[in-house]
Amino acid sequence: MEPIKPFYFDITDEEIELFLSEARQILKSGTLILGPHSQAFEQAFAAYVGTRYAVSVNSGSSGLEILLRLKQAENTTVLVPTNTNFATVAAVLRVGGEVQYLDMEPKTFAPSLAMVQAAVEGQTYAKPLSGVLWVHIGGVISPEFPQVVDYCHQKGLFVLEDTAHAHGSQLNDVQAGNLGDGAAFSFFPTKVMTTFEGGMITLNDEQEDLIARSLRNQGKRGMNFGGLHTDFGNSTRMTEIHAVLGQIHLAKLDQMLTRRQRAYELITAPLRAAGLTFVSTDHMDRASQYKLIVLLPEGKTTLEVKQALAEEQIFLGGTVYEIPCHQQPVFAGICAGQSFPQAEYWCPRHICPPLTSGMTEAEAERVGAALVRHLGA
Ligand SMILES: Cc1ncc(COP(=O)(O)O)c(C=O)c1O
Repeated sequence: MEPIKPFYFDITDEEIELFLSEARQILKSGTLILGPHSQAFEQAFAAYVGTRYAVSVNSGSSGLEILLRLKQAENTTVLVPTNTNFATVAAVLRVGGEVQYLDMEPKTFAPSLAMVQAAVEGQTYAKPLSGVLWVHIGGVISPEFPQVVDYCHQKGLFVLEDTAHAHGSQLNDVQAGNLGDGAAFSFFPTKVMTTFEGGMITLNDEQEDLIARSLRNQGKRGMNFGGLHTDFGNSTRMTEIHAVLGQIHLAKLDQMLTRRQRAYELITAPLRAAGLTFVSTDHMDRASQYKLIVLLPEGKTTLEVKQALAEEQIFLGGTVYEIPCHQQPVFAGICAGQSFPQAEYWCPRHICPPLTSGMTEAEAERVGAALVRHLGA
């Protein structure tokens, strides 16, 4: 039986040739950063997401840090879901902010509106609350997210989107990355599109665009090749070569998402029929389908299901996430003494079956059937 792997790097021979020929041109031109490829990639990405601006960076992590600096989150408290990647929490800490975790609900693996309200109302924090850094886990946009944004704006709080999982996800005609006050995408190799390493900030404010460009370039504003550093930036630019791969992947993103959606439908059809629970994207116009989150029925453990599927040559990807951030040793001391019961329960009790743009329909069906066999009663 052919192994079904959790990751697939989606590139054709023609695209490899195109990449190599562009890379050769870049090397000959000597313009290795901040050149025409980065600019073209930024413009195409902004047009895709529907924002006025997009700023390329060297990682999603750098993008998050820049967003928080744009919002002057230093010395403030930022609400962050505990069910997220290390990078979301680390970004707040790196800019000198404090984190107040939010729990999650199993329907979306994101916090609920009520959780945000409870964290805002009647609470006092050592550092004033400035906003929320929200994460669309697995590319799923919570149906409550627009209400979260409205509520936060009424309270004078910003809402930033960590869109590391959500390329092309869309709710109520608006794409992830254009639903709040700024967003940061990741192009890490496992994401639905990649630039080797890389990230993109999406924004609608002209001044923020100017400062974001400065922050990724050692704090130098505009076309300033002199020695003037206005902002406390860093060297977090994207290279021209990375931007070439980004352009190639962005051009085929819709196609890759269509194939992921088909795989999602084929895998989940038998799950629905068997009454198994997974995080649904049915309420969205479109989902990145970065991760399919399947909740384990009572009595099943991740390890036993993983092993049983591996025996059938079906290999699971990483979960989102196995250990919530408030239980990570590196973040010990943050929200000490508080508990986040839903995250504590569900983080170790879900799996993410393989779902890629390279899967055949037969493979997707094989995954769905195997899940029913191993998760069903
Ligand atoms: C939710 C989330 N946020 C941020 C990041 C950071 O992105 P990067 O690895 O590009 O720095 C990741 C990365 O994997 C992520 O999953």
